Amino acid sequence: MSRFWSERVRELEPYVPGEQPKIDGLIKLNTNESPFPPSPRVRDVLTDGAIDKLRLYPDPNSSALKQTIADYYGLKPEQTFVGNGSDEVLAFAFMAFFQQPRPLLYPDITYSFYPVYCQLFDIDYEMLPLADDLSINLADYRRENGGIIFPNPNAPTGRALPLSDIEALLKENTDSVVLIDEAYVDFGAESAAQLVDRYPNLLVTQTLSKSRSLAGLRLGFALGSVELIEGLERVKNSFNSYPVDRLAEAAAIVAIEDDDYFRQCRDQVIATREWTEARLQELGFRTVPSAANFVFARVPEGEDAAELSRQLRDARIIVRYFNKPRLSEYLRISIGSDTEMQALITALKAILS
Ligand SMILES: Cc1ncc(COP(=O)(O)O)c(C=O)c1O
Repeated sequence: MSRFWSERVRELEPYVPGEQPKIDGLIKLNTNESPFPPSPRVRDVLTDGAIDKLRLYPDPNSSALKQTIADYYGLKPEQTFVGNGSDEVLAFAFMAFFQQPRPLLYPDITYSFYPVYCQLFDIDYEMLPLADDLSINLADYRRENGGIIFPNPNAPTGRALPLSDIEALLKENTDSVVLIDEAYVDFGAESAAQLVDRYPNLLVTQTLSKSRSLAGLRLGFALGSVELIEGLERVKNSFNSYPVDRLAEAAAIVAIEDDDYFRQCRDQVIATREWTEARLQELGFRTVPSAANFVFARVPEGEDAAELSRQLRDARIIVRYFNKPRLSEYLRISIGSDTEMQALITALKAILS
């Protein structure tokens, strides 16, 4: 605490990201990063010429990148927004759309940045409990609200909703913004991007951090109606004109264009996830069906999840444990390479034997 902090800053409970330990040889399965390097084409654009150009500000509108994203999703560039990671895009969206007289609705178990933005931007919210199988029941969201947000697939559960359920919600909920956070959509869910032309209140956010192996680049984007995108631009241009730097824009464009490489990595993650789920079940874990690049697994009967994560750490493998109601019996395990997942299963067998 400092006497120089404003009242708002004193009250904040900031988000705590998963650790990034500086220990060599660690198997890192705690922050849902990709085990693969980014597209080889990224290296081609990070040239000396590109570095020399860093003396110039980037394009404040990131027009070339917006065009690439628009082409990829069959939309217009005016229906796209880009930012410094989807966390920033989400923050702008909370500020632009969710400061309303009615509460924002989101699940009780979800991405833990949402309550942090609500606190920062003074947004009233209601958390709606997931069902016992950790699924989102969209019927609960059919009530007056100042906005709706959830990830699809949800995090940290990995469970996805079918697009038809999301469309049914959009048909009924026409007076507030519905934000679908698609950070993990590429690993097994259907994107709502294809609904953007039909529902002016739909905003979809995505990221290059997971399925395009660029967490370190910080590039996220939103797809929505021209009016929603204009709202985001107003906030962005009142905060930071250049959230996407020159190197990030150039690398993001080629990473999106290299669709073959993207599909190859994604398919491998899905295959490794299926292998991992089967092995975990053999060891007595109960896994939530995952459409993401991680598995949410309930530890075997009689085991303590916190203790298990500590023992894995001793074996130099880190996974994510949430010491929160309804989550404390689970581990969230990111899907790494085949070798890393084999090492995880070997370590778990030794610990549980
Ligand atoms: C559900 C969800 N949304 C958004 C993000 C933010 O991703 P980034 O800021 O790297 O784009 C994450 C990161 O883990 C996430 O889990």
